[in-house]
Parts: sequence; structure tokens; C-alpha cells
Amino acid sequence: MNSTPPDVHRSGPGPFDRLAEQASLRRRAGLRRELRPRGADSPLVDLAGNDYLGLTRHPEVTRAGADACLRWGGGSTGSRLVTGSTALHAELEAELADFTGAEAALVFASGYAANLAAVTALSGAGTLLVSDAANHASLIDGCRLSRAATEVVPHADPEAARKVLSGHRGPALAVSDSVFSVDGDAAPLAELAAVCREFGAGLLVDDAHGFGVLGEGGRGALNAAGLAGAPDVVCTATLSKSLGAQGGVVLGPAVVVEHLVNAARTFIFDTGLAPAAAGAALAALRVLRREPERAGRARTVARAFHTGLTAAGLDATAPDACVVSVRAPSPEDAVAWAARCRDEGLAVGCFRPPSVPDGVSRLRLTARCDLTDAEIDAAVGVIVRTAPQG
Ligand SMILES: Cc1ncc(COP(=O)(O)O)c(C=O)c1O
Repeated sequence: MNSTPPDVHRSGPGPFDRLAEQASLRRRAGLRRELRPRGADSPLVDLAGNDYLGLTRHPEVTRAGADACLRWGGGSTGSRLVTGSTALHAELEAELADFTGAEAALVFASGYAANLAAVTALSGAGTLLVSDAANHASLIDGCRLSRAATEVVPHADPEAARKVLSGHRGPALAVSDSVFSVDGDAAPLAELAAVCREFGAGLLVDDAHGFGVLGEGGRGALNAAGLAGAPDVVCTATLSKSLGAQGGVVLGPAVVVEHLVNAARTFIFDTGLAPAAAGAALAALRVLRREPERAGRARTVARAFHTGLTAAGLDATAPDACVVSVRAPSPEDAVAWAARCRDEGLAVGCFRPPSVPDGVSRLRLTARCDLTDAEIDAAVGVIVRTAPQG
């Protein structure tokens, strides 16, 4: 094989030269991102991942993932409508629906794909999408892809949604995270659902950060808000956070799931979820059902982080689930702070623009139910000790 690059003769700038300029601008603004592959046995205490229930390495979960891989193969071999639906997918969907109280469930290759599917397939020309200003990128992209008219409303403000819906004739869908991924605050779902009902609008809730930790035994934000099984509410979730696996799911009325199977492009044109991920997610769900106290403990750990950090004078958000954010003075400060934490054995998330819509850089910490009180105190100590001065 010839490994030397072809000699391209051209005059003028190359098609990708502007990317180097953009990279240099990013570097100067302190906004460069880079990959830092971790080892399998990292010595760091992980407050950056989303393994809220400590299940990703649970022996039943890893065993089930390995068994599914051995039984069904390394991949699902095709799209869900061709060869990519196994009995394991069907079992997972039935248990997810049963657990959450939804009429039906449909599993996707990721939570991102589930959100794109739900937003695009439940809207269309003439639909008004009402989207919270702090929604996750996957909901925002769903709104863009749908080509429906989208009104972005102020964060967590059902009155703003009411105003927009009252001026619209025709189908409408309000779209919101249940727990917002940057600051960890919860959406006012019961109020939002009431507003939607006034105007006959549907409600789509992304429960990525609520599933597994909110509601009775971790049944999710709809359960907590008294909306589980509602005929006018659809929920999405990822299998990659509380369930410690990979994949996504849409939960809702059977008529919605039937529609997605026939209309959602990220379902129809995407290879089905890998069997290992489906098997791991199913095993994790069964552990959660058996040990529902994991959900409450994860929330307690998050509140302990908040209490410790605010007592030390840091500007930390009050968590409604497992996410706590701590404000940093600048993107550069956030990066340097996260690096100092890492040097002291703590992995924390570092959120900078454009991931933060308000432009404020933060450290982002995630709680896990398997952290001990001593580990929580030690982690708070590191974050406080390494905080930017002044
Ligand atoms: C709120 C929210 N929605 C959706 C997703 C996407 O889920 P997945 O990682 O399974 O694609 C995430 C994950 O990062 C998220 O935080």
C-alpha cells in the first residue's frame, strides 16, 4: 500500500486551511478541547462520568453484557426493521415500559438518536415546537431537523410556554429536559404538562438525568411528577447514565411507538443497539428494581456535595438529581481547576462555551450512589483546596 500522501497541485488556500485558523482562535480563547483516553483501571475518583447508580462495573451487568455478546454477536447486524431486532431488544423494551409505567417502549442506538427520532417524528410542517432555552443539544438538533417552527422559551418557565401556545393554532409539542444537564436543576414538569393540556399540546420530556434517580425507586421524572403513562406525554431516556450501559429509549403511548417504528429516520436507518449494550442495560434495570435504594442514595450524595461546596463559599448549584455545577471565573480557570483536581486524584467535568448557553464556565460534578461519606468529604476538600484564588 502506498503510504505517501498524493501530491495535490493547486493554487490558493486549501479547503481545510480555515480550520487551522479556527483552532488557533479556540486555543487563544481557552476553549480548546482534547481527548484524554483513560486506562481501564484509572486511579482517579470519578465525578465526571454519569454512572449515577454505580452499575457500569456491577458484576451482573458486565456478565450479562458479555453473555449477550457471546450469544447474539458483537453487533446487531442490521437496522431494527431488518435483522437488528433480537428477542433481547424486545425483552428490554417490555421491561423498560413496565418499570416506567409507559404503554410501550422503543430502544435506539443512543439517547441522542432517541431524541432526534421523537422530536422529528412527532412534529412536522404546521407543528409548533416550544423548546426550553437550556435543553440538551440532541433536543435542539431534533427541533432543527424537524423543520417545524420552533419557539425557544426562557428556561423552566411554564408561563412563557403558555404565552407562546396561546398564540398558536394547530398541533404543538413542548420539549424539555427533565433535569438540565449543565446545572442539574429540574424542569417544572407538572406545571408544564398542565399548560400543554390547556392547549391540547403534547409534551416530550428528555429524562436522561432523571431516569434511575428520580421518582419511586428511580422510575424517573414522569413518575415523580404524576405523569407516568399519560396519553399526551412522551419520554426519552438514555441507557448510558443510570443504567451504566449504552443506548436510548422512547417511552410513551403505543400509538407513538408504532409511529416511530414507521417514521423515525434514526430508528429506520440506524443499526440496532448492540446486543452487549442491550444485555447490560437489562441486567442493570433488574439490579435497580431489586435495590431501589440506589436512587435515593445517589441524590443524597449530590446534596452532600452541594452542602460541602457552598459551606466553603463556592458558587454551586442545588441539585434536583445527581448533577452539581460549580462556577469558575473563566474558561482558562475552569480548565486549570479541573487539572489541579486531576493531579489530586479527582476526575471532574469541565464545561465551557459552547456547551454552556449562558457562557459561564463551570466544573461539573456527578454523584454516584456508591461513594462513601469519607470519599465525599475528601472530594469536596480537593475541589475547595484547588479553587481559583481571588
Ligand atoms: C440531557 C441529555 N439528553 C440526551 C443525551 C444523549 O444520550 P446518549 O449519550 O445516550 O446519546 C445526553 C447525554 O449526554 C443528555 O445529557
